[in-house]
Amino acid sequence: MRRKIIAGNWKMNKTLSEGLALASEVVNIAQDEVPSGVSLVLCTPAIHLSQVAAILKSADRVFLGAQNMSEHESGAYTGDISADMIKSVGAGYVILGHSERREYHHETNAQLAARVKLALNKGLTPIFCCGESLATREAGEHVGFVNNQLKESLYELSAEEMSKVVIAYEPIWAIGTGVTASSDQAQEMHQSIRASLAGQFGEQVAGQVSILYGGSMKPDNAAELLAQPDVDGGLIGGASLKARDFIQIAKSY
Ligand code: G3P
Repeated sequence: MRRKIIAGNWKMNKTLSEGLALASEVVNIAQDEVPSGVSLVLCTPAIHLSQVAAILKSADRVFLGAQNMSEHESGAYTGDISADMIKSVGAGYVILGHSERREYHHETNAQLAARVKLALNKGLTPIFCCGESLATREAGEHVGFVNNQLKESLYELSAEEMSKVVIAYEPIWAIGTGVTASSDQAQEMHQSIRASLAGQFGEQVAGQVSILYGGSMKPDNAAELLAQPDVDGGLIGGASLKARDFIQIAKSY
């Protein structure tokens, strides 16, 4: 049974006090309203992690994630955070390869392959992001482009390692734009991703991997997207910054 995960990517939003208030509100609402079998993950800015972790101790289905991680164990990497640091504050998830980091920090597929491997070795669950630009989609090259991201960053993993990875398909043209992929577009790509994984790792592993959709998923469109057979959850940006909206998405299964 694939895990149903609704993850919130707060990005560079919320001061510490605002973030702690948001986390508390999510926990308070979630315990009564989020359907059983649905897991929430809050991916906060690094400076919030340890104090949000304390709030989440009282929540049985709300988990904590970081938004990035170095491929280095430790050392002279100013501003970066390590897998051990993420684990030390009680976070179990880490977003890797978000399109904003690929663009602004020039992260490569090879670099992300090393980060995914290290995260798994340290017992973290990677949320590996992939997705194409509008130009790539308009050129009809979106399937090949995303397949290549998977191939270059994930295909050196063992089948057992791959079964522990969560994937987030985030078409870049839908991120923060309010232009959401249609449910058909999302299903097409999720099915393609799962087929690619099956080709490399076998049907059983591919069938276990949770594939989240990200890109302007909102309370009013979540139900149709989550009803798609290969859409197992969402990676939510803007709508995760309001507890009610975030929980409403989690209730949309
Ligand atoms: O990582 C999730 C994010 O990229 C989606 O952002 O604001 O379109 O939900 P948003």
